[in-house]
Amino acid sequence: MITHRDFELVRAVAFEQAAIVLERGKEYLVEARLTPLALREGFPTLSSFLSALRCQPSPGLLHSKIAESLTTNETSFFRDGHPFEALRRSILPELIAKRRAQRRLTIWSGACSTGQEPFSIAITIREYFPELADWRIDILATDYSPSVLRHAEDGRYNRIEVSRGLPPGLREKYFVEQGDEWQIAPEIRSMVEFKQLNLIGSWPALPSFDLIFLRNVMIYFDVKTKRSILDRIRPFLRRDGYLFLGSSETTLNIAPHWSAVTHDATVVYKLIPTPE
Ligand SMILES: C[S@@+](CC[C@H](N)C(=O)[O-])C[C@H]1O[C@@H](n2cnc3c(N)ncnc32)[C@H](O)[C@@H]1O
Repeated sequence: MITHRDFELVRAVAFEQAAIVLERGKEYLVEARLTPLALREGFPTLSSFLSALRCQPSPGLLHSKIAESLTTNETSFFRDGHPFEALRRSILPELIAKRRAQRRLTIWSGACSTGQEPFSIAITIREYFPELADWRIDILATDYSPSVLRHAEDGRYNRIEVSRGLPPGLREKYFVEQGDEWQIAPEIRSMVEFKQLNLIGSWPALPSFDLIFLRNVMIYFDVKTKRSILDRIRPFLRRDGYLFLGSSETTLNIAPHWSAVTHDATVVYKLIPTPE
């Protein structure tokens, strides 16, 4: 069993590196996630690994590997269904009407995990909006974890992954079966650029986005971090753009400047106009 002192060390590392709040009582999770890391790093036990960590300058590579091991990467294609329905039925049609002159859409999936979210957006665009074939569509997909990004960049999914949320018709059309896996089609893969980005770190230069997806990541953060990220993304969302959060997430009572708007069964967020 992990000692109280070791657990507090891990808690501090997860918070400093990625803003992940590990509540007390999650000792079992820390042990389950970090023991394999300790062994991979050549330590016989988790406690010897953490003793060695105490002697290392922070932040270092081991600190980020610890935080990465503690991320939850649960995702699926078209997760929750209704946000993608709203995207298809009302949000994209509205944005397309407004962007006819520029013929360009720019989208950010800010905690993309293994890629199902940005690929679901790309598939929605290709499947339901053939008129966008000659538009410039840029989907930036970012995550803290290099290992989920490698999976996403590969665009290869096993049977369980493609059976979750992906209608068989779309799987047949936009994936190629290769042995036990399904490879995303090049036309979808090429719409998405993957990059590592820590939401609490320094950000590279970013464009203005029409849509920002920040789904099922802020649940791991405290209110101060949520507020700071919601403030930080404001300059990057166009005035008429939309923010998608996870079903259990909201801006309400956390950050001003945002208003909730309901589209079909989905709540999305817009910036409240500020006087020029
Ligand atoms: C539960 S997944 C959500 C994936 C997808 N957005 C969805 O809704 O299905 C949360 C993702 O957030 C990422 N994450 C956690 N902390 C982060 C941080 N500080 N910066 C960027 N990504 C982070 C994790 O690596 C993980 O892939």
